Amino acid sequence: MFRNKTCGELRIANVGENVTLAGWVQRIRKMGGMTFIDLRDRYGITQIVFNTEVNSSLKDTANQLGREFVVQITGVVTERTNKNSKIPTGDIEIEASEVNVLNTSAVPPFTIEDESDGGDDLRMKYRYLDLRRNPVRYNIELRHRMTMEVRRYLDSKGFLEIETPMLIGSTPEGARDFVVPSRMNHGQFYALPQSPQTLKQLLMVAGMDRYFQIVKCFRDEDLRADRQPEFTQIDCEMSFVEQEDVIGMFEGMAKHLFKEIRGIEINGDFPRMTWADAMSLYGSDKPDTRFGMTFVELDDILKGHGFSVFDNAAYIGGICVEGAASYTRKQIDQLTEWVKRPQIGAKGMVYARVESDGNVKSSVDKFYTQETLQQLKAKMDAKPGDLILILSGDDVMKTRKQLGELRLEMGNRLGLRDKNVFSCLWIVDFPMFEWSEEENRLMAMHHPFTHPKDEDIPLLDTNPAAVRADAYDMVINGVEVGGGSIRIHDSQLQAKMFDILGFTPEKAREQFGFLMNAFTYGAPPHGGLAYGLDRWVSLMAGLDSIRDCIAFPKNNSGRDVMLDAPSTLDQKQLDELSLAVIDEA
Ligand code: AMO
Repeated sequence: MFRNKTCGELRIANVGENVTLAGWVQRIRKMGGMTFIDLRDRYGITQIVFNTEVNSSLKDTANQLGREFVVQITGVVTERTNKNSKIPTGDIEIEASEVNVLNTSAVPPFTIEDESDGGDDLRMKYRYLDLRRNPVRYNIELRHRMTMEVRRYLDSKGFLEIETPMLIGSTPEGARDFVVPSRMNHGQFYALPQSPQTLKQLLMVAGMDRYFQIVKCFRDEDLRADRQPEFTQIDCEMSFVEQEDVIGMFEGMAKHLFKEIRGIEINGDFPRMTWADAMSLYGSDKPDTRFGMTFVELDDILKGHGFSVFDNAAYIGGICVEGAASYTRKQIDQLTEWVKRPQIGAKGMVYARVESDGNVKSSVDKFYTQETLQQLKAKMDAKPGDLILILSGDDVMKTRKQLGELRLEMGNRLGLRDKNVFSCLWIVDFPMFEWSEEENRLMAMHHPFTHPKDEDIPLLDTNPAAVRADAYDMVINGVEVGGGSIRIHDSQLQAKMFDILGFTPEKAREQFGFLMNAFTYGAPPHGGLAYGLDRWVSLMAGLDSIRDCIAFPKNNSGRDVMLDAPSTLDQKQLDELSLAVIDEA
């Protein structure tokens, strides 16, 4: 037996017991006749004490131990004289009577404590050591608890967990595929699933009725704090449902998770916002609704006064930043530089301060009378002490996005984005299509299997750009945590959709023939949703990046620095696959 207690469970009630613990040496403190060791395992830290007066040779052994040695220690639980209220075991210590070194350790490259001295890259390279640290391990434990709750909820609703293959063909989620060459099928490639979308629809045709899977998805796209090339979805599909049924089921799951994981009881329905409103009020299809500062369109007030920037703009919008009139000229100049950075891309920013007497002072005073500025103040609902920030541009959507970024930045600066406040909502009525400049054609905004709103189906022939979809996203604190739709289950409507999307019937058959074929054998009406598990966990844990809740994540260049992957292949392996690597140079 290696141990009969863990390093996290002993309390004052255990005083007098003889116990055996096993774990890692986190710290050694040598203080004259006494040596103290902090012994750590997954469950906590327990202080071990060695006393020359009690057993001098044992103390000498303890003095030889190094950080991260794996040891087994037997001793008596005693009450500590100087208690440590910071840890649950802080009232006791173990007076060691036996030490057994189970393994030694090289000196770790960084300190394995809550506050480590290791930089990001180093900790990623030694991720298995980083995972020993409490804050990192906590996220992994939280992830486990969440997947357990997800399974519990979905099982209670009759969902079956069904695995789908990883080696498949191209999936239509709009990112690039990761591909795998096939040795047995010369010159052919599998694609890893961007999601199990088509497979879960086939499971509905197969009569499975309610499916879920906690599943790895692969997308070769540019990485960000909330994107990894391989990530995990809680993927679900249901038969004989309408949009309301799906929304109800997964809003229920969100509430279940908040309650079980964070102890937060959410009463009432989550608010819903149309995509069009989200874009015009927040400049984003994933608005952070923890704070207001919504957009006000100002064309009617600010156009036609000789200020050519506004006169020529397709869009002029403002936000009212409460209490920020005290911003100095320097701060405003910095903010102007901030919106002009290439990542944001605004050409400039106009501001107007509401002074304590109610007068408005703006950076473009020479074009506007106080009367017009008062109209601006009224329309913005601005009070003395508020700062109005205005952006304009010749592309409505782009300018709204820029204003949306500025809004989020002001939210950060004003401390309005509290990680312990959760604001959940559904975005509904997405457009069916979006125009792709790159491809010069309409693209499916969600994916090509999304059902158009019944009342908009006639528009497919006359004005497809105006068609709205039975699609919905759940957004929490500005993060898209999930999305789904009601699917097309009629092969004729599906064929029409492919046609609008620019697929020839041959191309559609080549790529999705299996699905269209399946739809000819009695496909039930169906729909579903996929939640992003990594995003859910990082929201619940208050993390800045989803990386921190993934045991072995990739870095920003898509590399696993611990495994040093991706890497080159041996010539033998390339030959087997009939592959040749062309040197880029
Ligand atoms: P979608 O593409 O919206 O829908 O993905 C669903 C959810 O998965 C998460 N997600 C990601 N998380 C981390 N890294 C990524 N690269 C990444 N990409 C997406 C998001 C997103 O909301 N098949 C459809 C679902 C459906 O229609 O049922 C789909 O995959 O939280």
